[in-house]
Amino acid sequence: MERSLSNCIDLRVDLGERSYPITIGTNLLADANLFAAHIAGNRVAIVTNTIVGPLYLETLTQTLKAAGKQVTPIVLPDGEEEKTWTSLMRIFDVLLEEKCDRKTTLVALGGGVIGDMTGFAAASYMRGVPFIQVPTTLLSQVDSSVGGKTGINHPLGKNMIGAFYQPQAVIADTATLNTLPDNELSAGLAEVIKHGAITDAQFFAWIEANIQKLLNRDSEALAYAIRRSCEIKSDVVRQDEREGGLRAILNFGHTFAHAIEAGLGYGTWLHGEAVGCGMVMAADLSHRLGYIDAQAKDRIKALVQAARLPVIAPDLGVDRWIELMQVDKKNEAGKIKFILLQPLGKAVITTAPAQVLEETLRTCVKQ
Ligand code: NAD
Ligand code: GLY
Repeated sequence: MERSLSNCIDLRVDLGERSYPITIGTNLLADANLFAAHIAGNRVAIVTNTIVGPLYLETLTQTLKAAGKQVTPIVLPDGEEEKTWTSLMRIFDVLLEEKCDRKTTLVALGGGVIGDMTGFAAASYMRGVPFIQVPTTLLSQVDSSVGGKTGINHPLGKNMIGAFYQPQAVIADTATLNTLPDNELSAGLAEVIKHGAITDAQFFAWIEANIQKLLNRDSEALAYAIRRSCEIKSDVVRQDEREGGLRAILNFGHTFAHAIEAGLGYGTWLHGEAVGCGMVMAADLSHRLGYIDAQAKDRIKALVQAARLPVIAPDLGVDRWIELMQVDKKNEAGKIKFILLQPLGKAVITTAPAQVLEETLRTCVKQ
């Protein structure tokens, strides 16, 4: 397979000495020169899972061998429920058994679960080895592979254990999306919608106009959605790499989403499904607080629904919702922080009066 240069987009995450490129295009998994350019040593460990491995591990292994690298595969079980300490230890077990040294580059081949875990393993193995993100889901191509948030879940809270650790490069081969199940494509669209809602009303309107094309996997529409999302995310990360403030806006919908994921048990809803529903809830709260009008609230719900994502939340019970939302990295001094819209296309980081929050929780759940 040859890399189609005309279809290739190169962006950059500007972080001083931790800057890195994002390459988006088709058939990049077969591009030995591209991978060689980002791998200094001669050893590579590819971390993947039992779903992605059979699809793409052989191609990437051959590519890396062609680039003169010695390749160690690490195949983990699939699923959000496997984003655990146990899986992380499996990565370390193989790295140590195979005597991988500190010049070994870890390559994350998979979706956000593999990307987050591999990044965390890279941050901590021998106090830090290089890693490359090779995202294979829409969600990971538009969001999780960019920005250096890595980690695992804890039974008490989502993504609670982790590190900020930037990759050497992000290589997003959009041809891998051809094998992605429809519900996973929709899950990725949740994060695309998020990027428009928080920073770019015009992009939001573009998604509304092109949602059918995106669902039909129109390659031009998908390439634009991935590119614009990576631009928006890179720009936010450039300004606030370690989430001192601004970066928290990327968590629009996530306060509710993380409660859904932890409350139902990881893997019951897809992360992107929870984010879709969480954005509907955050829009409802924004409206109740007078930050957006009813039309904007309805547009968000309609777009989430059009993307074939859930818009009605599970009934966890108000007390349980609040208990779950209290375990959130954004919270300060016991106060739950929300990312709300003011107006559509702009985000604010704020708290909400308990009574108004409870109205949202009662209204948005399954009756
Ligand atoms: P995922 O990694 O579980 O992938 C979804 C499913 O698709 C899995 O079953 C996977 O094996 C399969 N898959 C992956 N690529 C495929 C392909 N090309 N063809 C067929 N099947 C494929 O989930 P995700 O939605 O990619 O990522 C969600 C995770 O990302 C969550 O854990 C979330 O917390 C995390 N996340 C992290 C960040 C960040 O900034 N680090 C941002 C957003 C989300
Ligand atoms: N997905 C949230 C962030 O990267 O900050």
